[in-house]
Amino acid sequence: MGVGHSHGYLHLRSARTSLVLDCTGGLLPRIVHWGADLGALGDEALAALAGADEPQIMSSTLDVRVPVAVLPELSAGWLGTPGLTGHRDGRDFSTAFTVRALEAGAGEGPVRHRVTVEAADEHAGLALGLEIELTRSGLVRLRAALTNDGDDPYTLDGLLLTLPVPSHATELLDLTGRHLRERIPQRHEFTLGTHLRENRRGRTGADATLVQAAGEGGFGFRTGEVWGLHVGWSGNHRSFAERTPAGVSLLGGGEALLPGEVRLAPGDTYETPWTYGSYGRGLDELAGRFHGFLRDRPHHPRTPRPVTLNTWEAVYFQQDLDKLKALADAAADVGAERFVLDDGWFGGRRDDRAGLGDWYVDKDVWPDGLHPLAAHVRGLGMEFGLWVEPEMVNPDSDLARAHPEWILSTGGRTPPLARHQQVLDLGRPEAYAYLLERLDALVAEYAVGYLKWDHNRDLVEAGTGPAGVAGVHAQTVAVYRLIDELRARHPGLEIESCSSGGARIDLGILERTDRVWTSDCIDALERQQIQRWTGMLLPPELMGAHVGAPVSQTTGRSHTLDFRAGTALFGHFGIEWDLTGAGPRERAGLAAWIAAYKELRPLLHGGTVVRGDHPDPALWVHGVVAPDRSRGVYALVRMATGVQAPPGRVRLPGLDGTSTYRLTPLAPGDRPQAFTGSRLPWWDSGVELPGRVLSAVGVQAPALHPESLVLIEARRL
Ligand code: DGJ
Repeated sequence: MGVGHSHGYLHLRSARTSLVLDCTGGLLPRIVHWGADLGALGDEALAALAGADEPQIMSSTLDVRVPVAVLPELSAGWLGTPGLTGHRDGRDFSTAFTVRALEAGAGEGPVRHRVTVEAADEHAGLALGLEIELTRSGLVRLRAALTNDGDDPYTLDGLLLTLPVPSHATELLDLTGRHLRERIPQRHEFTLGTHLRENRRGRTGADATLVQAAGEGGFGFRTGEVWGLHVGWSGNHRSFAERTPAGVSLLGGGEALLPGEVRLAPGDTYETPWTYGSYGRGLDELAGRFHGFLRDRPHHPRTPRPVTLNTWEAVYFQQDLDKLKALADAAADVGAERFVLDDGWFGGRRDDRAGLGDWYVDKDVWPDGLHPLAAHVRGLGMEFGLWVEPEMVNPDSDLARAHPEWILSTGGRTPPLARHQQVLDLGRPEAYAYLLERLDALVAEYAVGYLKWDHNRDLVEAGTGPAGVAGVHAQTVAVYRLIDELRARHPGLEIESCSSGGARIDLGILERTDRVWTSDCIDALERQQIQRWTGMLLPPELMGAHVGAPVSQTTGRSHTLDFRAGTALFGHFGIEWDLTGAGPRERAGLAAWIAAYKELRPLLHGGTVVRGDHPDPALWVHGVVAPDRSRGVYALVRMATGVQAPPGRVRLPGLDGTSTYRLTPLAPGDRPQAFTGSRLPWWDSGVELPGRVLSAVGVQAPALHPESLVLIEARRL
């Protein structure tokens, strides 16, 4: 796979994806093709491809062809969503960039091909840098840097980058959601106009669409061409799908800027976040490119993902040394490897009304500091982790009393409270320095190996500094810097991105964190859905997935241990349950699931995620297949009762077509619970079939009670 370069056309190829760029005429690059690998194309073929794509000029339109660059410009005749919006006191509202330099070459690390463009508009006094990359896993990513070369300030209102999709992408899929029910898919026709997902929450959002996808009608996990876009940013952002009557269809995205948030003084530069594009035949392939990219990151966690006990749902704010030591004993006993002390350990934090900001261990609850607990945890062979919510402050805290001016606000008023808290202005150097010192000191004193970094409210009226100017951009940049600096000081430290569960999941935060807390809802039924769609972006090892108590604390539903643990198995496994109250049978059952997780985690955390397209919407099939396809592990999940009984065949995707596999139930998920008198014939004996038969025809699925699952293993003979 290489780069073909001629007459200003570039053909980048990687992992069955092609990206053809038209860089002719000194204009900003236009994408002629992004999608299926086109194979090696000579210079003439590339020019012919671009030429064959030139449309006719129609009545009552411009007399010239309208090229749509990755940064579409009004000056070219583009009347859709503009790439760049901004002005110099009303002037320079429109740009016409000319390319000054273009370089194409090999990338580094996860990046296979890299193109850099330097362009300028002398009249507007602006310089633009573009980076266009194709990663080893076949992701396209783009970002831009805009520099004010003029003599007056330039107010930037937005800088969005776009990727075209073909007109046979007729259907859209994006995700929405809320606290405790993140990542709800919504699908509809790709109609003319703009489908915009705009976020002004100051954090990524429980409703963030991790991917904005456009594909062939009816595209599924395994079928149909589909293109998806993700904005790697943890602050305000936009992603959109747009279709024009002139036959242009595109996906676009970038940061959403508040009024006046970015005012570039002469010489200043604004950088966009990365916008990512992924193509696939089916959503599994599209998701696989994101997974591959994340796994190629130099800092991607390489050690086995430790079984984690998090104390939150076990004790909430009732922290007590003896109780937590007993919990640690029980956790170690079932096989836990990491123990995380959640909210409630610091200054005056007896409930969620006070204490945030006072990052000193509470002397009343912890007279000897956290050392007795940390030592006990380590004595049991577990790592010690700690919860923090650095960006937040309760008005009822020593910090807020001492520094009320450190709260993000504007207009001489404070924003409405959310969970009784406000947000610290990290754009203020003193506030930033305080947090860095506190976090650094805590991590050092307690040799903390893992920080659960929480963020429990949206940003409202986020004014920064004494003038109270719009500050979400500065806040986002500052929190990235804070994490980066802390990690540089503590190289082995792992950080979890938590934000009321899954409200800060994006590739910006993941450049500097090691997993996410996928949702505050650990009801296994809800989690099947949340993990399935979070998996559009994240591989299993980055998704925190915990086994809760038999009755879910956020929904009141009861589930068997097998359903709870078999759901958590397909993530970074943990426990969120007061095990001191669990009986010996439950503990033994959990220990068996943990043993299975430990045996399976190299496969689960390094393999290819596959999801079946089953005709029964309530019977879900998902699994992970080893990279060499020697082994696959699948879950058959009965989400609700089905119309059909017995359920019929289930196809197992992702195996090697020419190899023969032995299919067997996999313990401890090998006990189908069902209201039926007979057993499924192949269940006890197993069955041997070629991979192509298993994926094309499948086998009879066992009957299952609603809200239960079984595991199946396929091993190559
Ligand atoms: C929200 C998190 O998502 C929970 O897991 C827990 O850490 C609480 N915050 C603590 O306040």
